[in-house]
Amino acid sequence: MTTIDALLGEEIMQRVELLAAHTEQPGMLTRTYMSTAHQDAAGQIAAWMREAGMTVRSDAAGNVIGRYEGLTPDAPALLTGSHYDSVRDGGRYDGPLGILLPIACVSAWHRLSRRFPFPLEVVAFSEEEGVRFKATLLGSRALAGTFDTRVLDNIDDGGKTMRDAMRGAGYEPDDLPAAVLPRNRVAAFVEVHIEQGPVLLDEKLPLGIVTAISGATRFMLELDGMAGHAGTVPMQSRRDAAMAGAEIGLFIEQRCQAELGLVGTVGQFTVPNGAANVVPGRALLSIDIRAGEDAVLRAAVDDVRAAINAICARRGVRVTLRKTYEAVSVACADWLQAQWADALRRCGIPQRRLPSGAGHDGMAMAAITDIAMLFVRCGNGGISHHPSETMSTEDAALAARVFIDFVEHFSVPAVCD
Ligand code: GLV
Ligand code: MN
Ligand code: MN
Repeated sequence: MTTIDALLGEEIMQRVELLAAHTEQPGMLTRTYMSTAHQDAAGQIAAWMREAGMTVRSDAAGNVIGRYEGLTPDAPALLTGSHYDSVRDGGRYDGPLGILLPIACVSAWHRLSRRFPFPLEVVAFSEEEGVRFKATLLGSRALAGTFDTRVLDNIDDGGKTMRDAMRGAGYEPDDLPAAVLPRNRVAAFVEVHIEQGPVLLDEKLPLGIVTAISGATRFMLELDGMAGHAGTVPMQSRRDAAMAGAEIGLFIEQRCQAELGLVGTVGQFTVPNGAANVVPGRALLSIDIRAGEDAVLRAAVDDVRAAINAICARRGVRVTLRKTYEAVSVACADWLQAQWADALRRCGIPQRRLPSGAGHDGMAMAAITDIAMLFVRCGNGGISHHPSETMSTEDAALAARVFIDFVEHFSVPAVCD
């Protein structure tokens, strides 16, 4: 590893820490869409982009875009980037790595007055996780022209609409159409992201080329049974909403365990106004089901829906099932995967291809351009969406070296499939 690589690795890691200080929950990293911490992070990212020699713009969705002008300014731009929002009590690399790594690389090129035949744009997407308003990929959808304006009416836990939160932070939702990137301005989108799983770690490999991003379907499930006294209502006559939810959760677990590449999660399960001495009359659950193959996902979703109806009918519980998210799997373009592979080979790093079980902004960006991703090994057994998510400075440096090599050799084939 050269000294420059090592310095880049250290700069990336230091900035990841600095950005993690922008949190709405002291002692943990939580940065949800349009919170003060989220907007402070946007300001910090914009400052680093300027320092690195980029011109910076933002849009109505809160995306921050740094542009490093090319030798032919009118050429379509190579886009890279990731998201600066986080889950609650999340990890610090999920998202920021893919923003801070290219900023560090641009800064190095800028110091050497190195320009490319194409402009390079680093996009800090404002929202990917869907935490605050139960709607995901808001930043990348705004750029791709697929932002569903109905979600502006979604409310957060405090009853505030997304529309009001945006306006409160100084963004005008009516200006969202102006955020759309015309297809002919974009050559490709590539994202560097922590793997968020154990595959590279287990195989002792620092980096991997993503082949495809899994499809996903999410639901919010409302169960309404009958509340009652925990001491007096006989077990046989209960219509316990929480137990219906528990049975549904176990069904999802068993159904998804049965097939490789299929995963299902009940990440939220609440009993509103619950108490130790009250039979739960109401329960709210989130359901997230994912698979690399769309047919596998569809079949699992059909089975889960059927099971929910059967369980609730048997238990006398009324069910409201609302789909909050649906995405088909998205393939990473062969020609971009090949250019990542060439970069790895030139840098002497073994090539490993793997699918992504996690969702990423590339899913939305694929509506306007070809996409690809580079995964960086995740430490601590591959844990992510958790404060103990980690990666090494050496791996950050290797990823920066490969990214630099990729950009320096990047070219769009005359005809790509
Ligand atoms: C985003 O991180 C997701 O895959 O849910
Ligand atoms: Mn992410
Ligand atoms: Mn995430």
